[in-house]
Amino acid sequence: MTTESEAQVSEAQIAAHWREEEYVYPPPKFIGQANVSDPAILDRFREDRFPECFKEYADLLTWEKYWETTLDTSNAPFWRWFVGGRLNACFNCVDRHLPKYRNKAAFIWVPEPEDAETQVITYQELYRRVNEVAAVLREHCGLKTGDRVTIHMPMVPELPVTMLACARLGIIHSVVFGGFSGAACGDRIADSESRVLISMDAYYRNGELLDHKAKADEAVEVAARAGVQVERVLVWRRFPGRYESATPMVAGRDEFMDEVLRTYRNRIVDPVSMPAEAPLFLMYTSGTTARPKGCQHSTGGYLAYVAGTSKYYQDIHPEDTYWCFADIGWITGHSYIVYGPLALAATSVMYEGVPTYPDAGRPWRIAERLGVNIFHTAPTTIRMLRKLGPDEPKKYDYHFKHMTTVGEPIEPEVWRWYHQVVGKGEAVIVDTWWQTENGGFLGSTLPALQPMKPGSCGPGVLGIFPVILDEEGREVPPGSGKAGNMVIRNPWPGIFQTIWGQPDRFIDIYYRKYNRNPNSKDWHDWPYFAGDGALQAADGYFRILGRVDDVINVAGHRLGTKELESAALTVEEVAEAAAVPVIDELRGRAVEIYASLKPGFQPSKEIEDKISAAIERLIGPIARPKSVWIVPDMPKTRSGKIMRRVIAGISNFTSPGDITTLANPEVVDVINRRVRSAKVERGQVPRELSEAELEEIRAFGKVE
Ligand code: PRX
Repeated sequence: MTTESEAQVSEAQIAAHWREEEYVYPPPKFIGQANVSDPAILDRFREDRFPECFKEYADLLTWEKYWETTLDTSNAPFWRWFVGGRLNACFNCVDRHLPKYRNKAAFIWVPEPEDAETQVITYQELYRRVNEVAAVLREHCGLKTGDRVTIHMPMVPELPVTMLACARLGIIHSVVFGGFSGAACGDRIADSESRVLISMDAYYRNGELLDHKAKADEAVEVAARAGVQVERVLVWRRFPGRYESATPMVAGRDEFMDEVLRTYRNRIVDPVSMPAEAPLFLMYTSGTTARPKGCQHSTGGYLAYVAGTSKYYQDIHPEDTYWCFADIGWITGHSYIVYGPLALAATSVMYEGVPTYPDAGRPWRIAERLGVNIFHTAPTTIRMLRKLGPDEPKKYDYHFKHMTTVGEPIEPEVWRWYHQVVGKGEAVIVDTWWQTENGGFLGSTLPALQPMKPGSCGPGVLGIFPVILDEEGREVPPGSGKAGNMVIRNPWPGIFQTIWGQPDRFIDIYYRKYNRNPNSKDWHDWPYFAGDGALQAADGYFRILGRVDDVINVAGHRLGTKELESAALTVEEVAEAAAVPVIDELRGRAVEIYASLKPGFQPSKEIEDKISAAIERLIGPIARPKSVWIVPDMPKTRSGKIMRRVIAGISNFTSPGDITTLANPEVVDVINRRVRSAKVERGQVPRELSEAELEEIRAFGKVE
């Protein structure tokens, strides 16, 4: 129980005390070759130069028609960037590089089986493949500009080829992470009203050739139940000519892409000239309700933003070999495997499989073999590689100049291993904070100009002006080290345009909280609420504490509590369910489910297993709960809301916080005792949490 005086302090105002880390400086060798090492850039992106400063990013692109208005705020907060401009994203990522880089590698693809050949796709080859697929989409499928296509594929080169073919025609692609279930894919097909699904028969994961086509059948069924009929399923084959799935092809609906492509060999399809504000793609993410949010990203603003941040923050030069070890099915992959690097004519490495297959030395063998010099991944991968192969990097002769961490807060200890062991002390690290909604980085350091600080992402990036606000919208004094909500005061070119089909929800979630006047056309009145807790040190660097809303960040991937709970509720015995985060050494956060049963049912291991299985089937293995707790009742407010922060406290062995406002405070003790003793028995007692972690648990589920 908290004391009365503690309970009076707003959660957002509690100062988190952590040890201030020392700066780490970039090596002179890095600075000497960096894309930006002149501090004048900070001046060019000063706030009084906003929004015109972003001309510098837009000028990295080739415009068919140059734009007239940098930022149009007339329909705030639906910002329009580079209005009047026309361009094609595929042309910018492929065609325009041909004169200079025709036979330079665009993608180098590494299959998971280690004895399989690496595939090199030059810009010329990419151009050919993209054109042929574009011909299939337009002529065979009858798709046109503005149509949506859902792509549910693993990490194979055919994935970016298909995306770029869509972009060539102004078709809006919606890529669903390959690890997601068929049902999750079906929901997204229905939401985006895609009539075409592009899938694959099989792919390698952890040494096994997984059947992926089965998911396509389920997805089509789920979409049909939601009222959207998929007319065509195009199936790429992992080995062209050889079908590796046990699922039959459906006549009249399913076709093998390699067979259809035969008719379109060497076909050229002109890129369609698109307005800068035309949508380029949808990327679904989890939010506070079960319905996923289709974040709609623009063509001109998005591409300019990812090109600019790839150049200045990733320090990509055309001669670099850049490896972003993420999945293209997430926003990181869209922005920093495909669109950003390709806009800069980079060589982008793609790897099919898991980091530790066949052992924890695999990533470093790939880096050595291909001469990778820029490496980009998430803390969850770094933690896993550190645990399973702490000394592996030393065995391999590779040299990174630059490394990135993204997706969740990184512990300073893990950061140091990344820097000293993976980076051999030679590389700079950028810790990049941003979100699916943002298109590109929001908080980080300019690698040659701003020193690194383990555990902090850094200041706002160029042209981004963050502020920390309390619940009432008052500014937490800058540099005070006091926690509050992370807010961006201004719009930027990479920000998503809306939630597909849900413009009101777009305003409600991101702008309602801090909007000063709903009729205002002035961007100053529309601060963007990111849903993260954060604090700012005296040097202006931000430390991100984690989500303050109903989202759980598992291994860098967002899962909404509502979608987890809805999946648990499909089990017939379950009356109520609540999902909470638990601190996990490898995945950052893991999910725990609390469930109460309908009258007449007794708790059992079978019901627990059914709940886990339902979540895995409906969302995917990534969402599998660490534990399921069947409890007599949920702690609730008097208005009947489940108090997730109370059970989150129990799961993490911290104080459940103030429970005086609960309708049923007595249940807290019952649950607490049961869960604690079970965890002690299973050897799952968490380590002592840091201040930042305690802060996150205290604030969990605050936004209703
Ligand atoms: O909580 C923040 C965390 O991940 C959330 C965004 O997740 P998603 O939309 O899936 O995008 C992940 C890749 C951009 C954020 O709200 N997050 C992301 N990057 C960081 C981070 N937390 C701390 N440090 C980061 N570098």
